[in-house]
Amino acid sequence: MFDLKSIVRPNILTLEPYRCARDDFKEGILLDANENTYGPALSAVTESEKLLQLNRYPDPHQEELKRQIVDFRNSQINQYSKSNLEVDNLCLGVGSDESIDMLLRCCCEPKKEKLLICPPTYGMYSICAIVNDVQIVKIPLTVPDFQIDIEKIIEVLQRDPDIKLLYLTSPGNPTGALINVDKIVALLERTGNTWNGLVVVDEAYIDFAPPNGEFSQSLSTIVNQYPNLVVLQTLSKSFGLAGIRLGVTFCNKQLAKLLNSMKYPYNISSLTSNVALKATSPSGLSVMKHYVNLITKQRDIVLRKILSFEYVGKNIGGLDANFILVQILDKTKQPSNETALKLYNRLAKDNAVVVRFRGNELNCTGALRISIGTEDENKEMLEKLEQVLCELNM
Ligand SMILES: Cc1ncc(COP(=O)(O)O)c(C=O)c1O
Repeated sequence: MFDLKSIVRPNILTLEPYRCARDDFKEGILLDANENTYGPALSAVTESEKLLQLNRYPDPHQEELKRQIVDFRNSQINQYSKSNLEVDNLCLGVGSDESIDMLLRCCCEPKKEKLLICPPTYGMYSICAIVNDVQIVKIPLTVPDFQIDIEKIIEVLQRDPDIKLLYLTSPGNPTGALINVDKIVALLERTGNTWNGLVVVDEAYIDFAPPNGEFSQSLSTIVNQYPNLVVLQTLSKSFGLAGIRLGVTFCNKQLAKLLNSMKYPYNISSLTSNVALKATSPSGLSVMKHYVNLITKQRDIVLRKILSFEYVGKNIGGLDANFILVQILDKTKQPSNETALKLYNRLAKDNAVVVRFRGNELNCTGALRISIGTEDENKEMLEKLEQVLCELNM
């Protein structure tokens, strides 16, 4: 039976959250938080800066922002959703990188407990595990479709009770491939009663994944049905707001309460929440959807063109994110890390076009990961890539 108490570290379970000065009284002459009531040290404060009250600590709870995020995700339910998300299902972080780290600190006893990842995957899971002195177990994604190997995962989880977290990326980075929702739900069902751990699905790129008919591919709306599921999202990708650093953790309410107790009380700045509130309002959401549309159209155009180049092999990734993952070939038409790395360097150093070399990732030999830019940026990237690649293979 799923038991959060046997997943969370004992010191976190008994943690008394820090009480902020503003938790008790919010109005009046506020001399309770050692703020500077004269105002921000700016020579001229604009009207919009005045409204932000930057000399005051930000709201530690961010209920209004959470409400907008919850309303948005509830409007796009998954085929498995039976109930609505509520504000208490959320914890906000400084990008999803903070959520990735916080879950590790919440669940894994350093030097003893473990994290399971499925490479090729996002590099920060390993970095956070190493920093927290948590061991990493790896079960590769299947090739060539970059899906999870359910049987192997279950076998390893049953054998090793020290594994507390399984991090999946869907759509994947660098794979660009959505992990089949039915497979993740099957994994949740089959591990829910046998393994005391959490399946964390990082959905950083979820808004680029084509919906399944009328249903969203996001698992965020099923966290109340599956207490062993945690979903991570971010405003860094589809919302175009990597600079404000806002990540969202969706999970069961008990766990959300613990995560909210753990986080730094003022982790979301007033500047961040102000912009995030605009982006997740109805008008912001329509801009986001418009951009997602443009990016996915451009992705198809870029892909068609790049695959016609003589020394570009297959697109080895999926088409569920805002990038592509293509194989670069050498003179003999074999995928080649050497050629891909030279191409990457020549593009960046001599042509001011920066893509990402991913050839050292598992099952990604010769791969470059290329983010989809504006139409003009894509045209220039394609022209230069074709030219440099021909020169390299002359
Ligand atoms: C899969 C995945 N998760 C998380 C992140 C980080 O997101 P954030 O900017 O919210 O920290 C990235 C960034 O590239 C990513 O690819």
